[in-house]
Amino acid sequence: MFNEKEVEWGKLGFAYVKADYNYVSCYKDGKWDDGKLVKENTLTISNGSTALHYGQQCFEGLKAYRAKDGSVQLFRPDQNAKRMIKSCQKLLMPEFPVERFIDACIQTVKANERFIPPYGSGATLYLRPFMIGVGDNVGVRPAEEYIFSIFVTPVGPYFKAGLSPVNFITSDYDRAAPAGTGAVKVGGNYAASLESHLLAAKQGYADCIYLDPATHTKIEEVGAANFFGITKDDKFVTPLSPSILPSITKYSLLHVAKEYLKMPTEERDCYIDKIDEFKEAGACGTAAVITPIGGISHKGKLHVFYSEKEVGPVTRKLYDTLFGIQMGDIEAPEGWIVKVM
Ligand SMILES: Cc1ncc(COP(=O)(O)O)c(C=O)c1O
Repeated sequence: MFNEKEVEWGKLGFAYVKADYNYVSCYKDGKWDDGKLVKENTLTISNGSTALHYGQQCFEGLKAYRAKDGSVQLFRPDQNAKRMIKSCQKLLMPEFPVERFIDACIQTVKANERFIPPYGSGATLYLRPFMIGVGDNVGVRPAEEYIFSIFVTPVGPYFKAGLSPVNFITSDYDRAAPAGTGAVKVGGNYAASLESHLLAAKQGYADCIYLDPATHTKIEEVGAANFFGITKDDKFVTPLSPSILPSITKYSLLHVAKEYLKMPTEERDCYIDKIDEFKEAGACGTAAVITPIGGISHKGKLHVFYSEKEVGPVTRKLYDTLFGIQMGDIEAPEGWIVKVM
């Protein structure tokens, strides 16, 4: 049983902790019901559900942060709601409206207040909204019924001893096809990434780097995170491709680099054979905000960016600014923060 009085928040990992309440809304006869909070963390669905056989499902990941004044806030939940709509459109699932998505997140966080880590612990409350196609079905076709649900779980700081660089290796495999589902957050992309991740981990790397599926010459994703590099003349560069998941952290960093740090920014191809154009590099996503990249191994050669041991100064500034915004310590651009309580 979870006891919030005894938990060591800073030591929590990224593991499932059963919270008190989950949000569930069902879609039937062409419409969503009103949705409600439930205690059960299990769903009973038909064994013919399209989510089980044909991967008709999608999900999101975002966090609730406890600010210094004790209030609780979500970071850009509208962006997750909009990305989920794109995933739904791609897999012919019904859209869950943006306003309802945000309201469902707020309800779920409020109901699970005792799981929200305190300010300063580095821990946060992770929210996992998801949608699955359900109902009696056997053929390959979109379901007629769906479940939208949210669960939450407290997660510890990604780096327990502060930001530190890790190494990655390029993968020979692809997580998505050139004109496939790479730009949406659907389970199939992650199923396709499990083996590449295992191969990278077995060789001692944090994760693998996916190159563009058509030519294998350009960096696309770093495991389940986006890539960015800092050029020698201090430009923030990140790849642009239709098979990359548009990371909300990445687009927030682009804004932070430009508006807060006054750096030029570019979204363009990042060729693996030209990575020496970058003096620093990082992976970005909700889980860690930024994971500094020490080096990338490609075709048997390790290219080290700033250092394998220390975080580069630009990467640190980007991290401190964005995490400061998420925690409420630094003023956020308009509309980025949604107060829960
Ligand atoms: C494949 C992939 N790329 C990038 C990201 C980072 O996206 P975000 O910053 O929205 O968490 C994620 C995580 O959601 C991901 O799964």
